[in-house]
Amino acid sequence: MEVKNICCIGAGYVGGPTMAVIAQKCPHINVTVVDINEKRIAAWNDKDLSKLPVYEPGLDKVVEEARGRNLFFSTAVDEAIDKADMIFISVNTPTKTYGKGKGMAADLKYIELCARQIARVSKSDKIVVEKSTLPVRTASAIKSILDNTGNGSDVKFQILSNPEFLAEGTAVEDLLAPDRVLVGGDTSTEEGKEAMEALVSVYANWVSRDHILTTNVWSSELSKLTANAFLAQRVSSINALSELCEKTGADVNEVARAIGMDSRIGPKFLKSSVGFGGSCFQKDILNLVYIAKTYGLNEVADYWEQVITMNDHQKRRFAHNIISTLFNTVSGKKIAFLGWAFKKDTNDTRESAAIYVADELLSEQSNVAVYDPKVSEEQIYADVDYLNTRSSEENREGITVYEDAYEACKDAHAIAILTEWDEFKTYDWKKLYDQMQKPAFLFDGRGLLNIEELEEIGFVCYKIGSGKE
Ligand code: NAD
Ligand code: UDX
Repeated sequence: MEVKNICCIGAGYVGGPTMAVIAQKCPHINVTVVDINEKRIAAWNDKDLSKLPVYEPGLDKVVEEARGRNLFFSTAVDEAIDKADMIFISVNTPTKTYGKGKGMAADLKYIELCARQIARVSKSDKIVVEKSTLPVRTASAIKSILDNTGNGSDVKFQILSNPEFLAEGTAVEDLLAPDRVLVGGDTSTEEGKEAMEALVSVYANWVSRDHILTTNVWSSELSKLTANAFLAQRVSSINALSELCEKTGADVNEVARAIGMDSRIGPKFLKSSVGFGGSCFQKDILNLVYIAKTYGLNEVADYWEQVITMNDHQKRRFAHNIISTLFNTVSGKKIAFLGWAFKKDTNDTRESAAIYVADELLSEQSNVAVYDPKVSEEQIYADVDYLNTRSSEENREGITVYEDAYEACKDAHAIAILTEWDEFKTYDWKKLYDQMQKPAFLFDGRGLLNIEELEEIGFVCYKIGSGKE
């Protein structure tokens, strides 16, 4: 079967870039991305490409090439479902904030709504693709909804799992040259195999077939949670060692380099930091822990939960170190944050370490001054408000957002690097130093800057994982 019309439900950080690349690479396929969020769809359709709702290097060019040709963004969900022969579900699957599994399980209400809508609207056979990250065995729930809540017409559904491995900040690069594409499906039937081949053929337009893996649907679903758990576990492992380095005079970057040259360990994902953020790692590990617990696998659950415990500790430790270094009081002191996004080259702030560090400092009555090149003031306030630690008014009193980094740092007692934006390396650090209160403290939560040079200027520096000899 040849796919001619694709619909993707969910125009977020995954749905938007993924479909843009599919459309760019498959001009013979019509791709419609739909969302219930009208503002988001309007932003995807904005003539001014700097207003796209997702900032990713290179994405504007891809959208410019395909939009209006075979890539469309719309709020007409039913219409797009009806027309499509393949439907990607790429809606959010956040951690549940209520009821059974609160704080751990994935909230599948948006997924279920999509499945019900597809069942209600479909008049012809469809291949339904799970693009969202889902608990293992969700495909059977989706299948049951699709097969039992339809509109009476004799429609056949095939469910595939096709998790997305892109990382934000490098989404376009990752989509154009993925390490692998994973397609899970019903390998026991001819129809299942045909559906898998239909999806494989879409990717084969630009990904070589030896990079496209096909597995049974449960392996595919579980591989996504596992991949994120392994990646996050590396960050927590190196962060755990960063604290020991600080006590012993070792340097975590040197340790990371030394172990990373062992080809069995490898050099990537060993950068010690203020703690990992992003919408995926914490959510997916909590989900994995929850699934393990529901099967009674308590040791398995406890093992993975430590990755989160360590990450929470790392964020808190960074904030407490600022407080204790500033003579145990930051009350009334301006602390400048360079960076708010959870990593560079994205405007996404979900679970960013900066939010938690700011929250600790605000509780100590500090004045937090934030500069981030891509994150809006509105988003920064929304992020701290979401924690519910204090009132929205108090958060606005405690945090000031600047459009200029030099203004943010002026008269500050300390600068903290929370995101590794390249532009921070190019700043005139002598000028920043001259405008600060003295002693001028600098806390590099990303191992971004040349500490020796900054110390020569006069800064008192703290670098994660760097011990005093
Ligand atoms: P997102 O919140 O940016 O986007 C999800 C979109 O779905 C939102 O715009 C929302 O309005 C829309 N939506 C929700 N319910 C809908 C419905 N019933 N009909 C139409 N639209 C609806 O989320 P995201 O970051 O793109 O993540 C989507 C999924 O992909 C999640 O399961 C996530 O775990 C997974 N994932 C994310 C990343 C990442 O880097 N962000 C990477 C890999 C996988
Ligand atoms: C992650 C996975 O990498 C990706 O495959 C999956 O599809 C979605 O989740 P993402 O969260 O976008 O991607 O970014 P990633 O590069 O993995 O970084 C996650 C967090 O870990 C960031 O806060 C980053 O700064 C931090 N990190 C990463 C470190 O602190 N040290 C590292 O060595 C690597």
